Amino acid sequence: MKEIKLKKKDGFVSFLKEKIGHIKIREIIFSEVEGWLIWLFGSFPGVIGFSLRTMVYKLLFKKLKGFAWIQPRVTFIQTNRLKIGRFFAVNSGTYINAIGGITIGDYVLIGSNVTISSGMHPIDGQGVPVISRPSKPMPIKIEDDVWIGAGVVIMPGITLKKGTVVGANAVVTKDTEEYAVVVGAPAKKIRIR
Ligand SMILES: CC(C)(COP(=O)(O)OP(=O)(O)OC[C@H]1O[C@@H](n2cnc3c(N)ncnc32)[C@H](O)[C@@H]1OP(=O)(O)O)[C@@H](O)C(=O)NCCC(=O)NCCS
Repeated sequence: MKEIKLKKKDGFVSFLKEKIGHIKIREIIFSEVEGWLIWLFGSFPGVIGFSLRTMVYKLLFKKLKGFAWIQPRVTFIQTNRLKIGRFFAVNSGTYINAIGGITIGDYVLIGSNVTISSGMHPIDGQGVPVISRPSKPMPIKIEDDVWIGAGVVIMPGITLKKGTVVGANAVVTKDTEEYAVVVGAPAKKIRIR
């Protein structure tokens, strides 16, 4: 087993270098602006909240068509790579990280506490800690008329085909078939709608 060599310095600057040293400066600035805007507008209640978020996120996201029903406290990361279609709704506690690109179609409904992250840290090999390895971009596609139940994890690189329903708490590790209902971890098809 290889030893992990601990760096001598572990203050703020050393940590930043270790964690985000490989990221371009304009990406870091974008993330900073994005973080503040989502913090400012992400928790407003009621219809005013939905309306404010739709207006602000249309400017921020790569694409956001139409009015979006984004409940308070949904986390979005790297939204310059996030495209969302019309009639989109998402519930509180969901985490969407578009580092590798995420494309969401029309009429998509996402439940609460769902994780959709489109990047993965390489894990093979020893000696270099996983946290220090840049995330590999793995695009995710969610086609039209998909419903993702509460607590689901969609793995990086996955396509949820048109009409897919993902049952609560599933972990989706493979692309789905059109109109499939999938449940469990790893998610398996139980029927076609
Ligand atoms: C996936 C889902 C839509 C399936 O509904 P359905 O087609 O009516 O399925 P059924 O209730 O008839 O169940 C069929 C089988 O799948 C199992 N099953 C259903 N949902 C499951 C789930 N989330 N995880 C694991 N197994 C599940 C049932 O136990 C049943 O198994 P059995 O045949 O061995 O008895 C529904 O169960 C679900 O998870 N909905 C999401 C709810 C949710 O998250 N709401 C809030 C977000 S907006």
